[in-house]
Amino acid sequence: MATALATPEAIRRAAEILRSGGLVAFPTETVYGLGADARSADACAKIFAVKRRPTFDPLIVHVESEPALAGLCDVRDARARKLAAAFWPGPLTLVLPKTGAIADIVTSGLSTVAVRVPAHPVARALLAESKLPIAAPSANPFGYISPTAAEHVQSQLGRDVELVLDGGPCTVGVESTIVDLSSELPTLLRPGGIAVERIEAVVGELARAGPATTPKAPGQLPSHYAPRTRLVLVPAFGAEVRDGERAGLLAFRPPPKELRARCAAVEVLSEAGDLTEAAARLFAALHRLDAEQLDVIYAERVPPEGLGAAILDRLQRAAAARGP
Ligand code: TXA
Ligand code: MG
Repeated sequence: MATALATPEAIRRAAEILRSGGLVAFPTETVYGLGADARSADACAKIFAVKRRPTFDPLIVHVESEPALAGLCDVRDARARKLAAAFWPGPLTLVLPKTGAIADIVTSGLSTVAVRVPAHPVARALLAESKLPIAAPSANPFGYISPTAAEHVQSQLGRDVELVLDGGPCTVGVESTIVDLSSELPTLLRPGGIAVERIEAVVGELARAGPATTPKAPGQLPSHYAPRTRLVLVPAFGAEVRDGERAGLLAFRPPPKELRARCAAVEVLSEAGDLTEAAARLFAALHRLDAEQLDVIYAERVPPEGLGAAILDRLQRAAAARGP
């Protein structure tokens, strides 16, 4: 119901809510999460209900540190240890064989579990205070734009969450990169906050998940992260605004004057063309454009390297036609 600044007292209250089976929204470095005790099926069922999320789409479990994974999953894999050492705490999620303690609803009945150690100080304080593994998807209604500020959570889910901890805007701005280590070939399931190139520098080339139709890559549905307004992907500076159309522009770099003048609203992701900055600003810019009562949002493609891959992935899914 309420948003509270993430003071030590508010964090204690949040931990108490989690321990008694309630939901708390909290900041991570990627996006805000909607958290529950990962060992409690009842608490985690509330996440699916509040988000209107299909139960075939499993959740990520957050822990305070690698040792806290004992009893949750099998971390003996040398690749897992290398990646954990290189990128935790941080925006990397590993899919590993599940060994117990986590509620089945969290993993959609799979024999694997997705885990990560977040870097955000408020998330870390909440994990330390509650001493729980916390299951947390992004704190948005299923399929809608992810939240990168407490206001986004409050306006979308505020009525259904006991407490929203406000830790300011998220610095990474796109969800964690997900790597599946449960089979022979390490596989990229979702590009995200750690560039794939950096991960490949540690464990070698990653296989890419195919079209997401199976529960192997759930949540990787073609349509996701979508604003209510229709979104069309265009090349840089390539939006063709029609006469009389109320268009929004999601530009990577500052657009030429003539293009700007044809748009009712313009968001520039990075003045300097920096992909890390663009990722951090992406979802907040989409939230703002979606509030402008536009006919269409033209979103410019960004270069596919570094965090550009994660941005493009989100834009492509936001542009995918939604069902009836
Ligand atoms: O950055 C993040 O990862 C954020 C913050 C809150 O930590 N969380 C997040 O959660 O993005 P969510 O629910 O929006 O995405 C979770 C995705 C699922 O949709 C699925 O693709 C994948 O993680 N996943 C979870 N468990 C899995 C498993 N056992 N096997 C394969 N994929 C899994
Ligand atoms: Mg999500």
